[in-house]
Amino acid sequence: MRIIRSRTELAEQVAQWRKAGETIGTVPTMGSLHNGHLTLVNALDGKATRRIVTIFVNPIQFNNAADFQLYPRGLEADAALLEATGKVDVLYAPDETEMYPQGFSTRIMVSGLDSMLCGADRPGHFDGVATVVTKLLLQTGADVAAFGEKDYQQLCLIRRLVRDLDLPVSITPVPTVREADGLALSSRNRRLTPQQREQAVHLPEALKTCLANMQSGKTVADCLKICRESLKNHGFNVHYLELRTGDTLQETHTPTSGARLFVAASLGDIRLIDNMPVV
Ligand code: PAJ
Repeated sequence: MRIIRSRTELAEQVAQWRKAGETIGTVPTMGSLHNGHLTLVNALDGKATRRIVTIFVNPIQFNNAADFQLYPRGLEADAALLEATGKVDVLYAPDETEMYPQGFSTRIMVSGLDSMLCGADRPGHFDGVATVVTKLLLQTGADVAAFGEKDYQQLCLIRRLVRDLDLPVSITPVPTVREADGLALSSRNRRLTPQQREQAVHLPEALKTCLANMQSGKTVADCLKICRESLKNHGFNVHYLELRTGDTLQETHTPTSGARLFVAASLGDIRLIDNMPVV
């Protein structure tokens, strides 16, 4: 596995592969890798002959400076994990000036999808995501790219931007990878204290109970109310808890198949998100 830190070096590698008729699969990440990220790498099996994982903690998608500073980082450990998969050809880890040279002033904005759920909660976040993902897909010459359903709104937004900008890349969605107790894997979980880690399991449990309540005939509004209360009682500060359609993410009050329950809630200053489909 080659570690590449510059755009020009990456462009040379990509051009060489193109000439040789290779196809390229990309997994964009912010590092601090876990099994969820590695599952994205595996999801490219059979879909590309070369694989690039990108690691870049993207400053323009953090609307909170402390969150950016505290975001866990560890390039060496990440590189070792990727190397051990035997599946990654290039780890692309540009620094901030490489990604955003002086004078950088363009933003990609996916209107509508960017202002609900996490977008309402974190103004500007999705412009930062859309901008960096567009750059990473273009820089890596991706034919296919994998994204996790853990960040379901992000996945929808990226599909939209790929369609709208005619980017020649196909998007592979990957179901959320969870710990044995149900907590969705996340780089942010590393910051939870042991006590918060115990509390955190109530997030997926509350979603499951809420979906079961909806199936039992209670109104969606009542189910959401009960779920919010339960999360509060377990020490969460709930940012949003909503039932939305799985494609355009419109709010819905009918728990039909395809709808999804979305939550963002904090324990202390650690913000966790999760989502689950109505089955
Ligand atoms: P990051 O949080 O590092 O996640 C990188 C990719 O891994 C995303 O597609 C995310 O959905 C996926 N992922 C994370 N946890 C997962 C889990 N438990 N199960 C399945 N997939 C999981 O998302 C970002 O970085 C950034 O916003 C990025 C797209 C890289 C742009 O900066």
